[in-house]
Amino acid sequence: MKGISYRRYGGPEVLEYGELRDPKVGPDQVLVEVRAAAVNPVDWKCREGYLDPVLDAVFPVIPGWDVSGVVVRPGAAVTEFEAGDEVIGYAREDFLSRGTFAEYVAAPVRALARKPRNLSFEEAAGLPLAGLTAYQVLVKALEVKRGETVLVHAAAGGVGSLAVQIAAHLGARVIGTAGESNHDYVRTLGGEPVRYGEGLAERVRGLAPEGVDAVFDTIGGDTLRTSAHLLAPEGRLASIADHEVLDHGGRYCFVRPDPEDLRRLSDLAEQGVVSVHVQHTFPLERTADAHRLSQAGHVRGKIVVTVDREVGGGGA
Ligand SMILES: NC(=O)c1ccc[n+]([C@@H]2O[C@H](COP(=O)([O-])OP(=O)(O)OC[C@H]3O[C@@H](n4cnc5c(N)ncnc54)[C@H](OP(=O)(O)O)[C@@H]3O)[C@@H](O)[C@H]2O)c1
Repeated sequence: MKGISYRRYGGPEVLEYGELRDPKVGPDQVLVEVRAAAVNPVDWKCREGYLDPVLDAVFPVIPGWDVSGVVVRPGAAVTEFEAGDEVIGYAREDFLSRGTFAEYVAAPVRALARKPRNLSFEEAAGLPLAGLTAYQVLVKALEVKRGETVLVHAAAGGVGSLAVQIAAHLGARVIGTAGESNHDYVRTLGGEPVRYGEGLAERVRGLAPEGVDAVFDTIGGDTLRTSAHLLAPEGRLASIADHEVLDHGGRYCFVRPDPEDLRRLSDLAEQGVVSVHVQHTFPLERTADAHRLSQAGHVRGKIVVTVDREVGGGGA
């Protein structure tokens, strides 16, 4: 099969497009014909070696954890899916080896759910990692309730844009940080935009003088420290970007593959509660450009890589 891989850690230039070994399909895995794979900041962080302390890399590494596609063949123990099913997945393994930026991926069944029927493959690919993060932080870590005020950082980004929609659906009032060019976009998601940077604390206090009930931090550093002072008494803080959150009495969260959560997200998409904005698509062979755009840090919604096949093309 064709795909993207890297043989050593480094910049986008280490990504190579070429022929790769077809995946084997283990008993608990499902062979998926990849239609689209979304880019997440963790992809370039892995590529640069930042996750090496916690994830072994088996080179050559095929990057990518998000996928939408069609089931080709379920593994021997799989009863949940059959050939032809359209699926989405957060196909993270416990090491870096065989990701989703390729024509095929053997994804563990725990990573998968059916694709929302109303989303294109491109939109659906943007849902799993960012959507699971947003859902798990808001529902499981912050336990956001109706009537509460939630501050979501990077509200126009992959995680933030889904978090704003989910928090609004939970009945919360949502304040979201974004650059000015994204303020209208944040409003369309159901949030009240505020500009990030100097003066952020005053702007948030202007909107929520009693403090906010929950903060969803996606940035860390000064943003996290400022946010800790914006909480109402009994307010909750969670970060997906900075372990220092623990010093402020908050929770650090790392997104988990969870088929139940992914199924709920798929339902929310079909109910029209969450949508995925695809800012840009790239063909598979231009994955390096997709990584560059993600790394620049100003994505609106998601960047997605698509896999185009010749009619009658070969397969795994
Ligand atoms: N722990 C986990 O499980 C987990 C899971 C997912 C993501 N993450 C991490 O969480 C972070 C966000 O992920 P993502 O996928 O949402 O990233 P993303 O889509 O690349 O985020 C891009 C957004 O960040 C905004 N932004 C940039 N600087 C900002 C600032 N100082 N304050 C507020 N917004 C700012 C940009 O808004 P403007 O264009 O308007 O400037 C842009 O819309 C990344 O570091 C990622 O690695 C962690």
